[in-house]
Amino acid sequence: MFVDNELHQSNIRRGLVTLFNRVLSKRIIAAICSSMSNNIGRKRADYVFDHDIIRSSSLELVAHEIYDKNSAGNTAELGVFRGEFAQKINLAFPDRKLYLFDTFEGFAKEDVEQEKMKGYSKKQHNFSKTSEELVLKRMKFPENCIIRKGYFPETAKNIEDTFVFVSIDADLYEPIYNGLRYFYPRLAQGGYIFVHDYNNTKTYPGTKAAVKKYCSEMNINFFPLSDIAGSAIIMK
Ligand SMILES: C[S@@+](CC[C@H](N)C(=O)[O-])C[C@H]1O[C@@H](n2cnc3c(N)ncnc32)[C@H](O)[C@@H]1O
Repeated sequence: MFVDNELHQSNIRRGLVTLFNRVLSKRIIAAICSSMSNNIGRKRADYVFDHDIIRSSSLELVAHEIYDKNSAGNTAELGVFRGEFAQKINLAFPDRKLYLFDTFEGFAKEDVEQEKMKGYSKKQHNFSKTSEELVLKRMKFPENCIIRKGYFPETAKNIEDTFVFVSIDADLYEPIYNGLRYFYPRLAQGGYIFVHDYNNTKTYPGTKAAVKKYCSEMNINFFPLSDIAGSAIIMK
């Protein structure tokens, strides 16, 4: 059999580079993150198995600031799906309530229609394979969780609360803009809102548009975090 030696060697080289990127670089980032978060007490191994180390370690550092300043308020996530990030919020804020807003059935028809009309994402993921039980099961402090199942912002009616940490991860323009309109006025001094997918301009361009629109209307600034898909970090 004829074997092109040069081609064979370049395939091996490419394989090694991929291996380095996938495994070693993740360990290096994990080491950096664990040293950044040293005083919070998370071990390096926790980061190695984390798919978005930058976002998780930023959450921890932000929680540290909030506790340091004694900022009062509860926490929330709009767009929970199976609770992957919500679980981390629950862990980072053991003495705060965690409001969980989701249809638990995937995107709402009216939001998808608006998304198409405004010319943002054309194709959306299916987020229907979840349930409140599944989400609660993975929480370390399930007693802190308040499930608000259904269409946001309707599910936020009658809540009298302030927030120190909010994650908005709803992908589409409409719920993200409504989420900012609801949560920013209720954000405590020293509080943070993470809006995921800010730089996911290929798949969910409505996220950046919603953040930019709300922040320019309210004359507020944000920090673009270089986590997976990019997050906009809003502070008060
Ligand atoms: C990207 S997923 C959330 C991922 C999740 N944060 C995680 O850590 O895996 C987006 C979620 O937003 C929810 N969602 C989007 N618009 C909504 C709305 N108007 N009301 C309630 N839930 C909504 C969807 O049902 C979906 O579960």
